[in-house]
Amino acid sequence: MPSTLLKNARIATMVETADDYGMIEDGAILIENKEISWVGPAQAAPSGDTTVDCDGVLMTPGLIDCHTHLVYGGNRAREFEMRLNGVSYEEIARSGGGILSTVNATRDASENDLVTSALPRLDALLCEGVTTVEIKSGYGLDVDTECRMLRAARALQDRRPVDVVTTFLGAHAFPPEYAGDRDGYIDLVCNRSLPATAQDGLADAVDGFCEGIALSVAEMERVFDAAQALGLPIKLHAEQLSNLGGAAMAARRGALSADHIEYLDDDGVRAMAEAGTVAVLLPGAFYYLGETQKPPVEALRKKGVPIAVATDLNPGSSPVHSILSAMNMACVLFGLTPHEALCGVTRNAARTLGKPDRGEIAPGKRADLALWSAAAPGELSYPLGFNPLKAVIRAGELVRGTL
Ligand code: NIG
Ligand code: FE
Repeated sequence: MPSTLLKNARIATMVETADDYGMIEDGAILIENKEISWVGPAQAAPSGDTTVDCDGVLMTPGLIDCHTHLVYGGNRAREFEMRLNGVSYEEIARSGGGILSTVNATRDASENDLVTSALPRLDALLCEGVTTVEIKSGYGLDVDTECRMLRAARALQDRRPVDVVTTFLGAHAFPPEYAGDRDGYIDLVCNRSLPATAQDGLADAVDGFCEGIALSVAEMERVFDAAQALGLPIKLHAEQLSNLGGAAMAARRGALSADHIEYLDDDGVRAMAEAGTVAVLLPGAFYYLGETQKPPVEALRKKGVPIAVATDLNPGSSPVHSILSAMNMACVLFGLTPHEALCGVTRNAARTLGKPDRGEIAPGKRADLALWSAAAPGELSYPLGFNPLKAVIRAGELVRGTL
């Protein structure tokens, strides 16, 4: 494959060794075989088979939304109204609404319905420079629908220029048919749903919702035993509404990430630091649920826990279809710096997905690049509702905009 040299770019490499954005002001990148083979100052650049002048554009790694639930049936606009009329998220969940209302609508949807309804949501992310997206199941809660959701998620990458990383979330809630039999449902997850998805290669990781309204720590441990026996990496929705110690349990088992973590305590922070588990902050859910307890950002920083940021795009707690807004909210609501927010949707997001081949602009990484009409990388977190994306290159190919 011929090589391409992109020159005259301001490159925010986001490499780990740099203590800022890893900026190269008058930079160039050589792309060969879908990968970055060289990056550095333009005057030292090797020559390529073709050369493109980028006209001083700002370049970052392609963005990674590492936590979404964007495949689902129906919507929950009615519950949004209920919450604003004084009914809490937990009350709605306990009365059979919430996640379970999306379960009903998702069970009624065909794979094609799920793909069709997910495409506009995915498009909203892609038009902000997302090149990799994680998508969870968890609105089926039976063997067939969990598999169907994951097949729909995988099918999206045949329809759009994006890499989809899938996560099995059968341990999201208890379905109505197992209302009085929690152990029976965990048996189903461990012995049937999870093996079925694993057998068909449908899941890249296994997640759960550890919370008073969902699974207990002990129940989650059973699911993680089954996942780890199948060789699948684990992650967890933890400490979102209360502190059950789920994040520490997941970290001690080597989890890729613990997500939400507003109620994480010092023991949880320590366990995550020791294990290298990434803290995934989801400011969209915090915002929509009117939460006031903030994740312990300062403690995470002090202990060196890597921080990622994601939309949590879902019909209930976070109908947020904008990764740039999630970055802005992480800064304004949680006090992240714009640099931390950008690390959170590039390098650290890649880590939560177990994908060391992306998230930085460096030799050997995938040539997934977002090009912006912005003077500096901090500007990506600064506005709300403004999109400065100019172009996207995925695996070395221009897939959006012009250079
Ligand atoms: O990440 N916390 C649990 N799961 C989702 C919410 C799902 C829903 O409300 O539909 C979340 O916030
Ligand atoms: Fe979530």
